[in-house]
Amino acid sequence: MEGSLITLALESSCDETSVAVVRNGREVLSNIISSQVDLHKKFGGVVPEVASRKHIENISCVIDEALEEANITFKDVDMIGVTYGPGLVGALLVGLSTAKALAYSLNVPLVGVNHIEGHIYANFIEHKELKPPFICLIVSGGHTHLVHMKDYGVYEVLGKTRDDAAGEAFDKVARALGLGYPGGPLIDNLSKKGNKEAINFPRTYLEDKSLDFSFSGLKSAVLNYLNNNRQKGIEISVEDVAASFQQAVIDVLVDKTITAAKRCSVKKIVLAGGVAANSGLRELLTARCREEGFELKYPSLRLCTDNAAMIGCAAYYDYIKGYRADMYLNAVPNLKLGDK
Ligand code: KG4
Ligand code: ZN
Repeated sequence: MEGSLITLALESSCDETSVAVVRNGREVLSNIISSQVDLHKKFGGVVPEVASRKHIENISCVIDEALEEANITFKDVDMIGVTYGPGLVGALLVGLSTAKALAYSLNVPLVGVNHIEGHIYANFIEHKELKPPFICLIVSGGHTHLVHMKDYGVYEVLGKTRDDAAGEAFDKVARALGLGYPGGPLIDNLSKKGNKEAINFPRTYLEDKSLDFSFSGLKSAVLNYLNNNRQKGIEISVEDVAASFQQAVIDVLVDKTITAAKRCSVKKIVLAGGVAANSGLRELLTARCREEGFELKYPSLRLCTDNAAMIGCAAYYDYIKGYRADMYLNAVPNLKLGDK
């Protein structure tokens, strides 16, 4: 393994227990994701205490599997990378305590990673030639950020959501439609069979020039539409509601991303986070980028949603910059992008 730096990375901020082995930041030797989705489905969303307990049960096995698939042992590990925020505090603490124990016992450096930053770095794994600067739209279950990434670890947040995250809106609307959890992929699939122009749901652009987002008004508009029609006994096309809702989200995301790129005179646009898996968003942004002359990158589906490989990649670049955590590193549930 000469000339290579092996990171063992841990991610447990929400409902996936994930461990990856990453060589030199961008080469993924293994990326094991143990999803708790089936467990939380019956509650219609993630139950924090249940998530923490399941992480505890899972983490050792997931570590063993990641090492085995990468065909390495603990002796080959050069550093530990771990998500320490943002996320659910109990869930974060499982990965963090495990990471500290490993770093201490193996006597290797520990690097704490910001989960939102991790989502952006998924793109560096997928696109080996990709380098900042670029505009990044990070859309997940917990976050919606429009960011100018000027260099590795250097961000200017141009806009963010003022209420619900994009993925949260997908999940809440899916629940109202009786579709289950997580709602994003279900709405995405149904949308393909629906008419996106059937219902004119509101697009919230906020004040002139604002690059912030707001999805709670749209969510309420969908709930009102469903209630009104149900009260009147009018049959609802779930496919049309899904397609029209999805289009209302995507239109605003795409318009603001293109505006941000023009405003910052940046030629590259990057998508990240769970909602980046949305087929409608990928298609519309691809078309708009082609029209406007922007280069667009997004990760494969597996790297869009939560995974430890993206944390391993971000940890490597933090390590190169000289960041090291000590045994006092704590979970920070509301960690902001750019905070260390
Ligand atoms: O990044 P992620 O795995 O977890 C967070 O950090 O939040 O994102 C999960 C979110 C969920 O809200 C899920 O519904 C959404 O991403 N999502 C999607 C799609 N796949 C996952 N939303 C829309 N379309 C999809 N295909
Ligand atoms: Zn995430």
